[in-house]
Amino acid sequence: MPTRRNFLAATMSLGVPAILPRHGRGADGPNERVGVGFIGTGNQGMGLLQRFLAADMGNVVGVCDVNRGSLGYKEPAHFYGLEPAAALVAKDAGAKGRPAECGAYDDFRRLLDRKDVDAVVIVVPDHWHAIMTIMAADAGKDIYCEKPLSFAIGEGRRMIEAVRRGKRVLQTGSQERSNQVSRFVCEAVRAGRIGQIRRVVTTVGFNNKTGPGPGWSPMPVPPTFAYRRWLGPAPDQPYHEDRCLYRFRFNYDYSGGQITNFGAHSNDMAHWGMGVDTGGPVELECLDAKFLPAGSLFNTALETRFRCRYANGVELICESGPESVQTRFEGTDGWMQTGYRGTTASDPALLEGLPPKGTGTGDPHSRHLANFMDCVKTRAEPAAPVEVGHASSALCHAANALIRLFPETGPGHVARWDAARDCFVDDDAANRMLVPAQRDPWS
Ligand SMILES: NC(=O)c1ccc[n+]([C@@H]2O[C@H](COP(=O)([O-])OP(=O)(O)OC[C@H]3O[C@@H](n4cnc5c(N)ncnc54)[C@H](O)[C@@H]3O)[C@@H](O)[C@H]2O)c1
Repeated sequence: MPTRRNFLAATMSLGVPAILPRHGRGADGPNERVGVGFIGTGNQGMGLLQRFLAADMGNVVGVCDVNRGSLGYKEPAHFYGLEPAAALVAKDAGAKGRPAECGAYDDFRRLLDRKDVDAVVIVVPDHWHAIMTIMAADAGKDIYCEKPLSFAIGEGRRMIEAVRRGKRVLQTGSQERSNQVSRFVCEAVRAGRIGQIRRVVTTVGFNNKTGPGPGWSPMPVPPTFAYRRWLGPAPDQPYHEDRCLYRFRFNYDYSGGQITNFGAHSNDMAHWGMGVDTGGPVELECLDAKFLPAGSLFNTALETRFRCRYANGVELICESGPESVQTRFEGTDGWMQTGYRGTTASDPALLEGLPPKGTGTGDPHSRHLANFMDCVKTRAEPAAPVEVGHASSALCHAANALIRLFPETGPGHVARWDAARDCFVDDDAANRMLVPAQRDPWS
C-alpha cells in the first residue's frame, strides 16, 4: 500500500516521464508481455493496479494522473494519485528483480504517444471515459474502461464506432461479468430455471457521502492537483475538494450518482439474465426521486425508484436500497437473486450447481482484468465488450434523464424509449436531458 513516506520519496515530477527503456515488443504473440498504461490512479485505479501487479499480468510501462498524490479519496486516510502509483510500480519491479521502467504522466496524451503502450486501463471520472477511449482506440491501443462506459448516451455510440473501426479490444469494467456466481445466476435464469421471467428488481445503494450544502465556499486548488485537467470537458466551476476525488460521482457534471455508479452493475446483470445484452427497454418511468436542497454541491438523486418495460413485457424496477448492488429475477417458477451480499433463491434447489464461496471463484476484478489481458493477446471478445457496456450505461442514462425531470413532472411521466437510436420518442424535454454541456476543445 502506498504511504506518505514513499510518496515523499518518489522522485518524478509532473510532465517529466521517469523514462523507461522499452524491452518487450508488446502483444505480438500470445506469449509476449503486454505493455500497459494506467490512466487514473485513484480509488479504483490503485486497486486495479495492485491486482495487475500481484498477478503479474504484463508490463506497466506508464501511469497517469492529474493529482500528484493526496490523502482523502474514498476515505480520508486513502493516499492515492500519480506518485503513489509510480512508487508502487517501482517497488513491485524491485521485488521482482526487474528494471524500474514506469513513466509518470499528468497528460494522458503523452502516454498514448508511447509505442510500447499496447493497452490502457482507464479509471478516471466518467466525464473523461469517452474522450480517452476514442483517442486510445485511434492510437491503436486496446482498452479496459471502467463502468459506466459513458458519461452521456451519445458518447457510447461513438465509442463503439472507434473501437470497431480500429479493431480494438475493449473491456467495460463491469467485473460481475467475470464473477462466476453472477454468471451462474444469469445463465440459469436465461436457461429458464425460474420459468418465464416476469419481473427484475435491481438495487442501487444509497449515497455514501455527504457534500457541502447551499452557500458552500470554494477552496484553494492544492498545488499538487491539476484541477483544469481534471475538469477537462466539464463546465468551469470553482474548486472544492468534495467535487473531485471519489465524490465526483455525486455531481451530474461528471457522473450520474448511484444510478450509474451501482446501477451500471445491477442493471447490467439484469440485462445479462434477461438476454438483452445489447438492447434496452421500450418504456421508462421515474416513480420517485429525492434530492438535496438546491445549491448543494452534490446534486445527484439521493433516493430513486424507476421502472422500465421491455418489448417482451418484462418489467424492471430499479430502486435505492441498503444493498449497493443486487439483482433479483422473478419468474413463473420462482426467483433468484444475487449481488454484493450473497445469492439466494425461492427454493434452494434453484441454486444447485452454484460455485461455492471462496473456492476457485477468485476476485472478480482480477478475473475481469485477466480476461481483458487474455483477449489483448488472442483478439477474442472480452466478457463485457463495448456494446454491452453501452447498453447498460444507456439504460442508466435514460433513467437519469427522467429522474432529473422528476421534480418538475412528478410521477406519471411515462416515456417511450427507442434503444436502437438511444433516444426518447416524441419527448423533447427528456431528450434534452441526455445531452450534457461540454467545453472546447473536448466537446
Ligand atoms: N468496477 C467497479 O466496481 C468500480 C469501483 C469504483 C470505481 N469505478 C469507476 O472507476 C472510475 C473512477 O472512480 P474512482 O472511485 O477511482 O475515482 P477517484 O476520484 O478515486 O479516481 C479517479 C482518478 O482519476 C484522476 N483523473 C481525473 N481526470 C484525469 C485526467 N484527465 N487524466 C488523468 N487522471 C485523471 C483523478 O485525479 C483521480 O486520481 C469511475 O468511472 C467509477 O465509476 C468502478
